[in-house]
Amino acid sequence: MTRMKLALATMLALPLASAGCGNMNDDSTSQDNFALGDALPGVNATTFAAAKANFNLTETQQDGLGPIFNERSCGACHSVGALGGAGQNIERRYGTLTNGVFNGLASTGGSLRQLFGIGGFNPSPGVNCQSGVDANPAPGATIFAGRVTTPTFGAGLVEAIPDGTIQGIAAAQPASIRGVVTFDTIHLTSGSFTRGTSRVNRFGWKNVHASVADFAADAYLNEMGITTTSCAGGQVVSDFATENRANRAGTNAVINGCPDDLVPGTDDDQAADELNNCAGGVTEVQDDVANFAFFMRALAAPPRGIDNSNGRGLTEFNREGCNGCHVTTTFTVTLNGRSNSFQPFSDFLKHDMGSLGDGIGNDGDSVATTRQMRTAPLWGVHFRNGLLHDARTSDRATAIRAHAGQGAAAASAFSSATAAQQNDLLLFLSSL
Ligand code: HEC
Ligand code: HEC
Repeated sequence: MTRMKLALATMLALPLASAGCGNMNDDSTSQDNFALGDALPGVNATTFAAAKANFNLTETQQDGLGPIFNERSCGACHSVGALGGAGQNIERRYGTLTNGVFNGLASTGGSLRQLFGIGGFNPSPGVNCQSGVDANPAPGATIFAGRVTTPTFGAGLVEAIPDGTIQGIAAAQPASIRGVVTFDTIHLTSGSFTRGTSRVNRFGWKNVHASVADFAADAYLNEMGITTTSCAGGQVVSDFATENRANRAGTNAVINGCPDDLVPGTDDDQAADELNNCAGGVTEVQDDVANFAFFMRALAAPPRGIDNSNGRGLTEFNREGCNGCHVTTTFTVTLNGRSNSFQPFSDFLKHDMGSLGDGIGNDGDSVATTRQMRTAPLWGVHFRNGLLHDARTSDRATAIRAHAGQGAAAASAFSSATAAQQNDLLLFLSSL
């Protein structure tokens, strides 16, 4: 959606607040109160409906789609079970090792490939341009990875977990499975987050962002080719304002010989930047990005199913050491003035998963770092199809057996359990 002006109502800030051990009372919610895709209580229904529609809106070249992109709406990928969910799309990532460290092939378009290009376009009469299409696989790639779409149910709850809680889990883990805490520098001032501050990462297969708004702006650019600018204290935030180009570096200022100024289509980066809407100390997030963030922050946690193991599966889950990473902690955070309790079954830390790791990282990362993956939250797993980062299986036992590296001991505990114990564990997983 193209807007020439930023929405002034920065309605989107769900007040995040303290976390603690809230007592269950009338203002408390647990995840069992909702159907998949429901909004948390206290969220304005009209704003939620509008934000949801924006998340599902198909964008066109006129809206700035492209020049290269993977899909035309957030909802085209995030749709399993309900809008905001996981997806069937498996993205392609590539890289290689140069002198033993990761190289994301920036000179040929970066590690994430875009599948489509808008083709020919005319920025002005008589000027014929071509978007080109990213080469798949990337030229020079020796590392090939798939990444399936992750769900965003409960994203606002996860976002509100204090850094110290995640750091405390890591500190308490035995060395053999201790996870890694990584930080991002907040890009967009949104909700309780301020640009420039440091925050513990928690989103994506590899923990690449700490806030929902930052992830939304990143996805708008890298999945759909729509660039944005926002404002922070009167300054233009242009972190998400550079188009991707087929098989070219991110800093390349031309699209196959054509100028990169508001073409193709009208990207959302002109609102703050070129129309000077940040003047006067304004702080606001570009309106589509703000709507996406509002929608995902408002989504309730996925509801639990029935545990047909009569509790034995949980005992087995703990005995096999699954709870070392997929922690059984009930987190409690306050959103919208309400206390919310939820069990995501993740420590939100990255672990060295050995041969299960996807080998993708940032330029300069060691091979060991590229093997690190975020503990996949198991909440909502009974709504999912493809499991593990590349959706290689829909069979839960196969997914467990694929755990290697820090997960190897748990995988072998599962493999050496009796058939009855394995069955109990799988029944328990079906209830998450
Ligand atoms: C082409 C498919 C596709 C489109 C379009 C897409 N996403 Fe995603 N999304 C993904 C994939 C794949 C991942 C996992 C990425 C990873 O971690 O490597 C993901 C992950 C996310 C996450 C992280 C959730 C978590 O905790 O793991 C958020 C938030 C998100 N997307 C928001 C959005 C928003 C907002 C839009 C629209 C602007 C969008 N996505 C468009 C495929 C897509
Ligand atoms: C060392 C930490 C660790 C331990 C221990 C561990 N897991 Fe995992 N688990 C992960 C990570 C990391 C992933 C994501 C790996 C990937 O896809 O690359 C994952 C993924 C999964 C998935 C797939 C979820 C999805 O969204 O695709 C399931 C199911 C799962 N684990 C179940 C288990 C069970 C059951 C056990 C105990 C037998 C267990 N795990 C033990 C870290 C761990």
